[in-house]
Amino acid sequence: MYNNIISEKQGVVQIITLNREDKLNALNIELIQEIGQEVARLNKEKSVRGIILTGKGTKAFAAGADISEFANFNSSQAKEMSASGGKVFDSIEASAIPVIAAVNGFALGGGCELTMSCHVRIASENAKFGQPEVNLGVPPGYGGTQRLAQIIGKGRALDMLITAKSIDAQTALDFGLVTKVVSLEDLLPTCITYVEKLAGKSPLAIAEVIKCTNALYENTDGFIYEIDSFATSFETSDFKEGTTAFLEKRKPNYS
Ligand code: COA
Repeated sequence: MYNNIISEKQGVVQIITLNREDKLNALNIELIQEIGQEVARLNKEKSVRGIILTGKGTKAFAAGADISEFANFNSSQAKEMSASGGKVFDSIEASAIPVIAAVNGFALGGGCELTMSCHVRIASENAKFGQPEVNLGVPPGYGGTQRLAQIIGKGRALDMLITAKSIDAQTALDFGLVTKVVSLEDLLPTCITYVEKLAGKSPLAIAEVIKCTNALYENTDGFIYEIDSFATSFETSDFKEGTTAFLEKRKPNYS
């Protein structure tokens, strides 16, 4: 069904694997669109409680946008590439189902940007993050200047962006770019367990948490947004189930 990704369901977890191992999973335009289609499809699947994005192989999550594809682009082609790809990255960030980046090696350029559009990043010890675009004579084009500063702060972000340097997994943990570092062999099991734990929580409330948190970075008053979100949640079956289960001293069962 897809040429550049593999998407597999394991219980409540959907694992999307970037499948261009011989090119270190470099992100060509088609691959990015395929991720967008798959995330949109999964957002209609009620049985999926979390999406894991990872790269094929042991070396790379993704070593960036596919340089061989865009090397001869003119400015309007570059604009189309950045805008259409950016929409996919935005859709991942806006996904009502949490998306976890299982970062299994190089996450450079577009690869780093892709991890940053995910809600949570967990890395293997060999992971490396960087935005080396200035080496190629361009700034990042998939939101890197914005999301890196949002996640690790402007000073650290600019240091990485202007020097093109990579940081290792431990530094990424210190910077708050990832929330956990595990061995490569433990990476996928850790991410799967993470999603399985989410399955015990209210999917509607999780979706609202994502929307409210994203509101902080949009041209909207997130505090007002949160009040409305909190209020509407009182009308949901998840709220009834969550509070009833607490009072009945049992685990909630969210359908
Ligand atoms: N776009 C296209 N192809 C890429 C790529 C990218 N971003 N990153 C790696 N590849 C390809 C290489 O061209 C090579 O293909 P080949 O075997 O057909 O020659 C293959 O993936 C393996 O990469 P290679 O460079 O041989 O691996 P390495 O271990 O020596 O180096 C990196 C790994 C990540 C340091 C190096 O591949 C690199 O610098 N990649 C580009 C990183 C970058 O600038 N990303 C931002 C792009 S906007």
